[in-house]
Amino acid sequence: MSQDVKLESGMTRKEAAKAVGHKCLVSRRKFLISAGVTTTIMITLDAGTAQAQQVPAQITEYPRKFVAKLSDLKLDEPFDFNYPDEGEYSENMIVKMGVRAGGGLGPDQDVVAFNYACTHQGGTLFDSYKADTKSLGACPLHLSTYDLTRHGILISGQAYQSLPQILLELEGDDIYATGIFGLIYGRKDNLQG
Ligand code: FES
Repeated sequence: MSQDVKLESGMTRKEAAKAVGHKCLVSRRKFLISAGVTTTIMITLDAGTAQAQQVPAQITEYPRKFVAKLSDLKLDEPFDFNYPDEGEYSENMIVKMGVRAGGGLGPDQDVVAFNYACTHQGGTLFDSYKADTKSLGACPLHLSTYDLTRHGILISGQAYQSLPQILLELEGDDIYATGIFGLIYGRKDNLQG
């Protein structure tokens, strides 16, 4: 069995090797961090010119719009409203379904709102709510039908995207639309209809 030798520092060779190894690792880590900082600075400097200015990030926010009073909603009777604007394909419906739904609002989480434009080719789903299946459809053009208990997922038909769901907030008895989950048919941006 080999015996470890004590060095002048009082450490054994093994202890010294360990210490050196540790130092190297720390140094390498420090180097990597330093390299990262340098890169960032270089990129910043590279992008920077005498004319460069700090530009704040652009955040587009959905309008907050009053839709209905929770106490006014009647079971399985949709109420229509426009959102996020009055432009094309902005027609939506809100309905209290009596069964818990994904994104459902209220004490029973059964109030949901969806856009009326079929995601396939924009056929209108107006007046197509089915209380027995809690669905919208069938679309008059190619028969797509959407499940309103599961975020408007497609049940059947030609579409391949879920129906855009209107995000809702409850404040007291007032229901507000605050956003849209999904892209409205015919729009590249929900807010530029
Ligand atoms: S437009 Fe609705 S299924 Fe084609």
